[in-house]
Amino acid sequence: MCGIVGIVSNQSVSKRLIEGLTRLEYRGYDSAGIAVINGQGIKRRRAPGKIINLQHVLDDSPIDGTCGIAHTRWATHGKPNMENAHPHQAGNVAIVHNGIIENFKPLREELARKGHVFATQTDSEVIAHLIQYFLDKAMDEESAFLACVERLEGAYAVAALIGKDNQTLFAARHGSPLVVGFGEGEMFVGSDAFALAPFTKRVLYLEEGDSAVVKIDDVCVRDKSGEEVTREIMTASISAVMAEKGNYRHFMEKEIHEQPEALARTIAAYMDPETNLPLLGDAAPFLRDAERLVAIACGTAYLAASVGKYWFEGLAGVHVETDIASEFRYRTPALPKKNGTALFISQSGETADTLAAMRYCNRAGLDTIGVLNAPESSIARETNAIMRTLAGPEIGVASTKAFTAQLAVLAMGAIGMAHLRGSLSQADTQIHLMALETLPELAQQALTVKAQCEAIAPILATAKQSFFIGRGVYYPLALEGALKLKEITYLPAEGYAAGELKHGPIALIEDGTPVVVIAPTDALIEKTISNVEEVAARGAKVIAITDEAGAEQFKDSTKDIIILPDMPGLTGPIISAIPLQFLAYFTALKLGTNLDQPRNLAKSVTVE
Ligand code: G6P
Repeated sequence: MCGIVGIVSNQSVSKRLIEGLTRLEYRGYDSAGIAVINGQGIKRRRAPGKIINLQHVLDDSPIDGTCGIAHTRWATHGKPNMENAHPHQAGNVAIVHNGIIENFKPLREELARKGHVFATQTDSEVIAHLIQYFLDKAMDEESAFLACVERLEGAYAVAALIGKDNQTLFAARHGSPLVVGFGEGEMFVGSDAFALAPFTKRVLYLEEGDSAVVKIDDVCVRDKSGEEVTREIMTASISAVMAEKGNYRHFMEKEIHEQPEALARTIAAYMDPETNLPLLGDAAPFLRDAERLVAIACGTAYLAASVGKYWFEGLAGVHVETDIASEFRYRTPALPKKNGTALFISQSGETADTLAAMRYCNRAGLDTIGVLNAPESSIARETNAIMRTLAGPEIGVASTKAFTAQLAVLAMGAIGMAHLRGSLSQADTQIHLMALETLPELAQQALTVKAQCEAIAPILATAKQSFFIGRGVYYPLALEGALKLKEITYLPAEGYAAGELKHGPIALIEDGTPVVVIAPTDALIEKTISNVEEVAARGAKVIAITDEAGAEQFKDSTKDIIILPDMPGLTGPIISAIPLQFLAYFTALKLGTNLDQPRNLAKSVTVE
């Protein structure tokens, strides 16, 4: 999960390569590099850390040419240092790679025996050497590139500069996304259309096993059998305007504030104005007929799926199995033989494990639905139906508005499914929909807890460890609260089902241990309060997230009560996410971590 960009032009490319690369920094920021080809052959510059470091290197020691590639890395094999930064070079070849070459060890040994000397610990470097090896065998550039790709196993998106040819980029994809962009007298390659948006919106998506020879005014695409193929040229829907922070300190802060808008857009897209019923589009028949649902995702999206399970089971009476994509794909899941529907929830639509799980389900004959924020992503192109979240581009690595938009779509899906199957009456369906329509307003009101969360944050910032607890739909929210805190503050935090705490983790509660409880009024609040009393009696510092009525019940256990508006129907977990985001945000702000780009993480994980 690295970012790749390449340009072949008759004008200089360095500056624009960096511009494109900056739009890919969400994919990783362990190191960055650029290689260009000009009259003097291949020149490259690299730097550990963020793109800004590379920019400083380029300021001191500029390079330019009319054909070039660039890379921002999220380290898998080899430390995130300068030596392991892409582009990797072997003789007259420079490459950038996203993915993992699984057979790199035997390839490396084979080439080492033939005299190739490796300069890095990466799996990727072998690609450059393999191409050079074939060039040494007197193959032409394209044949050498194709011969190399044929030997690679694993996942890759690769772009390469080969020989002294400054008129051609070579590219290939297998398991990691790659798009080709069409400009005026120049062509591009990129990990996604967003990277190319400042230059062109006309793109083609390479398909699995495709390779491409990209020239200034044309591209020749071959499929995995080597046949020349035509891939459709599309207009990408992404705005060229780089998301700006505006008056906010961080993208995360901005994106928390964008939730009323994101929820309004998302809800409106699923409401049929004529019938006042949920509009589920292509997903409707799959939901209507499903005997069982499987919901698969990673990270925060998995926690959205976990909330969805309560809704689909509660309203539509359908059995729902949730799974983490990296676990699902490597066990032997017992899948329904017929009428099984699988949901894949993903902001990026590129998460490698989710994509692999989706392909598994496609092969197993399930109907697949992607709940996706990126409509042109790999998952979008391979599922039978898409339910879009309309959160808009999310730049902060820690997911906020994409999570609440995913919840809104799952809520709509559950209500719609229940209505289609007759388990929810017309009247109850309307009541649920009216509740969801209040989401933008409720989210707006929930933003007013910001200052209170800022005041509470020092409690979390100074604690050795924190706990987040909840019951029912608020249990996955507790997990999300803890995950958010871990991701951006690096502080230990555990999410637990409130009723489960007494079966072990309560042993960790000491005087002053923060326990954040998410418990707006519902059928379970009394039980949650009992659990809160159990920890309060042992010295826990309780922070309650609830509503006006719930606040009454918490007032004996704590003074730190974050009061949200009354949240009807399914809106509770969606709105309750907002204070959790603020608590993590202000704790991180206090600790001075890199909020938008936390260490070791990346927004889109395109390796297993
Ligand atoms: C990464 C991100 C998480 C995200 C997860 C799944 O780990 O850091 O914030 O929830 O990937 O991403 P997806 O794009 O599939 O929703």
